[in-house]
Amino acid sequence: MSVVTEAVRSATGGGFRPPPYPYDRLASLKAMAGALPGGAVDCSIGTPCDPPPPAALEALATSGTERGYPPSAGSPAFRRAAAEYLGRTFGVAVEPSALAACVGTKEMVASTPHYLRLRDPSRDTVLYPSVSYPTYAMGATLAGCRPVPVPPADVDGGGLNLDAVDPHDARRALLLWVNSPGNPSGGLTDLDRAAAWGRHHGIPVLSDECYVEYTWDGPPRTILDAGDEGMVAVHSVSKRSNLAGVRAGFFAGDSALVGYLRDVRQHAGMIVPGPVQAAAAAAWADDEHVAAQRARYWDRLRLLATALSDAGIPTSLPAGSFYLWAVVPPRWGDGWALAEDLAKVSGMLVSPGDLYGPDGAGHVRVAVVQPAERLALVAERLAASGWG
Ligand SMILES: Cc1ncc(COP(=O)(O)O)c(C=O)c1O
Repeated sequence: MSVVTEAVRSATGGGFRPPPYPYDRLASLKAMAGALPGGAVDCSIGTPCDPPPPAALEALATSGTERGYPPSAGSPAFRRAAAEYLGRTFGVAVEPSALAACVGTKEMVASTPHYLRLRDPSRDTVLYPSVSYPTYAMGATLAGCRPVPVPPADVDGGGLNLDAVDPHDARRALLLWVNSPGNPSGGLTDLDRAAAWGRHHGIPVLSDECYVEYTWDGPPRTILDAGDEGMVAVHSVSKRSNLAGVRAGFFAGDSALVGYLRDVRQHAGMIVPGPVQAAAAAAWADDEHVAAQRARYWDRLRLLATALSDAGIPTSLPAGSFYLWAVVPPRWGDGWALAEDLAKVSGMLVSPGDLYGPDGAGHVRVAVVQPAERLALVAERLAASGWG
């Protein structure tokens, strides 16, 4: 059980009360950063700032799909575009029937344990990376399941050390989440190994691939490269196409699992709005805007990694994602102290690493989701800080 979940349960006599939303805890830092001339530069939340592809906005406005109920699984055009995207990007062939829409991937991450538990009440455990997006653990809690973190394979928080999973937890596991490239560390996970481990233990592996376009070390990889038996890949237009505001994604893979989730989600009323399905289909069909976005993020990652390193916070470039995951130098003690000083001195808001689980403490995460000129302002302020 995660620390937050445990604290919430004991404080409420066992009944669930939602914990504070992780990023709400940054409000005081925001005020400090905002007090600087030129204002705050918010690199805390991974919310895109760049334009979506024009074809997606055009489709959003002109699809003519407002009147009727759209298919919960996704329109034929949506599913075809998503399947073609998988074929083009990874060379995997997925039948449109083994693919369905989700309302952005966060709700999919948060709701899937509940649905899988209904399917197999004999299992009650969700395995997920210990340094990770908080919704994996929250999804387990919302399902009344046990969130059981799996430690990273790498010292910097990337990958998964599946050998460390207790066989007792494995026997109870409903699913294993993997996330490669991973939030927050940007590390890559050995997906072939995760797939083999999941099959060996009879545990479905759900692979959150929302940052896959921003794979810097080698080609983009999907769990479906290892075949689809017991595997589900989850994708989103939020980060790929700067469309986090429209809420669309899809999941694809093992036909029995995808079919079950598709059907139960239809009963639950999980439907991507028709105009959004049209916009997402246009986004999946285009790769040019992704190439432009990759270049922007890569430039910004280099700019900020250099500025932080020069200021005495050694920061390496990630293997993937648009996050820098910097170790907190000893003079700051912990991620909150560094985040506070960065807010005061550079105006940059970053996320203390423990927002991504206790194993993330000792790091800060920097999302390069601000225009280059704003990041240059941070670099100037850092250069004037005298920290280096
Ligand atoms: C690892 C990970 N998965 C899923 C999401 C949610 O993305 P979406 O906008 O598709 O719900 C995020 C958002 O930051 C994320 O970091």
